[in-house]
Amino acid sequence: MSASGPLEPSTVLGVSGPVGPDEPSAEGSISRLIVTGGASLEGKVRVGGAKNSALKLVAASLLAEGHYRLCNVPRITDVELMSEVLRATGCSVRWEETESTPELVIDVPARIEPVAPYELVEQFRASIVILGPLLARCGEARVALPGGDDFGPRPIDMHVRGLGELGARFEMVHGYIHATAPALVGSKILLEFPSVGATENILMASVLAGGVTVIDNAAREPEIADLCELLNKMGANIIGAGSATLTIEGVAELHSADHTVIPDRIETATYLAAVGVTGGEIIIEGARHDHMAVLCQKLGEMGMRISPDADGLWALAPSRLRSADCPTLPYPGLATDFMPFLVALLATADGVGIVTENLFAGRFRYIDELRRMGADIHTDTHHAVVRGVERLSGAQVKAHDIRAGAALVVAGLGAEGATIVSDAEHVARGYEDLAGKLSGLGADVAAE
Ligand code: EPU
Repeated sequence: MSASGPLEPSTVLGVSGPVGPDEPSAEGSISRLIVTGGASLEGKVRVGGAKNSALKLVAASLLAEGHYRLCNVPRITDVELMSEVLRATGCSVRWEETESTPELVIDVPARIEPVAPYELVEQFRASIVILGPLLARCGEARVALPGGDDFGPRPIDMHVRGLGELGARFEMVHGYIHATAPALVGSKILLEFPSVGATENILMASVLAGGVTVIDNAAREPEIADLCELLNKMGANIIGAGSATLTIEGVAELHSADHTVIPDRIETATYLAAVGVTGGEIIIEGARHDHMAVLCQKLGEMGMRISPDADGLWALAPSRLRSADCPTLPYPGLATDFMPFLVALLATADGVGIVTENLFAGRFRYIDELRRMGADIHTDTHHAVVRGVERLSGAQVKAHDIRAGAALVVAGLGAEGATIVSDAEHVARGYEDLAGKLSGLGADVAAE
């Protein structure tokens, strides 16, 4: 993929702009993370359920009336927001304490209201995946245009085109996408780029469409395979989960099901980067090596040793890593969500590394923050040239999005002195107690 692909702002339903500044936090409201660098990390940390899977599984429950129990769902702001979106349609959503982690229990009534209101949707990009399930279940959907992370235009033209090929019709009414489809009919859909969200929306609409749908050049992320697994448990007929071709034979009706969310590979990457910055030896319990093999290989090239362990993933890092070049690509390539962590690692690695961001325009804003900490980084369009320095120095910096905020925390772990990350509510959108988990490994991180 090149910068002339999906990086270009689309004229069709283009979306950009910052996230609302006052989002509620799942952990109460945190506004700052304070990191004092220096300690090397040791010990065990348990990774939570994948945000980017849980959000879609919650949306998928709209496809059938009934009682759902989702295990290993992270208690983060975005999940709370998606729960609110379901409540707005008439569902009941609540947390239930269990002996291990709390479970999210969803009751979907026989009739739901096919509306996702602006006040919720504008706060998080993933809300757009409500479109496919609402259309399939109700024959119509009124969804406000979504917000999301502040890293450039994020159009939804592929979602609209794919659902259109299944028979949906769209119009914009007062800032809402109004979609109608009295009867969805299976079709052969070729995505011009393996968009995660477009694949999920088309998939969730097609499970109840008449006949067979084939999605070619589908996204292959583990979170999509997880969604396919839940949908098949609900009675859908999907073949090819985890591959670039999904074949879906529509069924007349689905039923509710229970499911356990896969571990979060981006949270896992956060701990790998943390130990990469500080040096040390950790075990990430519950992590899946097979979901992040290319990242583990890249970190190996940089001098870390990482291998699957009976409990999850074992990682050993020397006191200083070597630089490497890191291009982001759709799965199974190096995920764009790993990129801020890789840049944080390269900032103090030995040598020069070039990072190429191939998915999102404008995802380099946090680099200015890293420069405040003494990083030597030059950016040119979607390339960043990172010259490793011996050590960063703690500074006051700002989180522009979830991963950027977490990467600044990681950078602070290796820096001399204190780093204060403001706008940390972004981090709470995607991490359940990041400060507590890093502290459990011996880091000095506090949330306030
Ligand atoms: N794109 C289009 N048109 C579309 C859809 C996408 O041009 O209709 C472009 C996007 O603008 C972008 C590229 O295609 O340049 C990839 O977008 P994709 O649709 O794959 O991303 P997404 O579904 O919006 C999900 C994750 C992101 C992650 C990306 C890429 C969720 C909730 N979000 O977003 O995760 O970066 O896939 O892997 O699943 C995060 O967790 O912090 C996060 C941002």
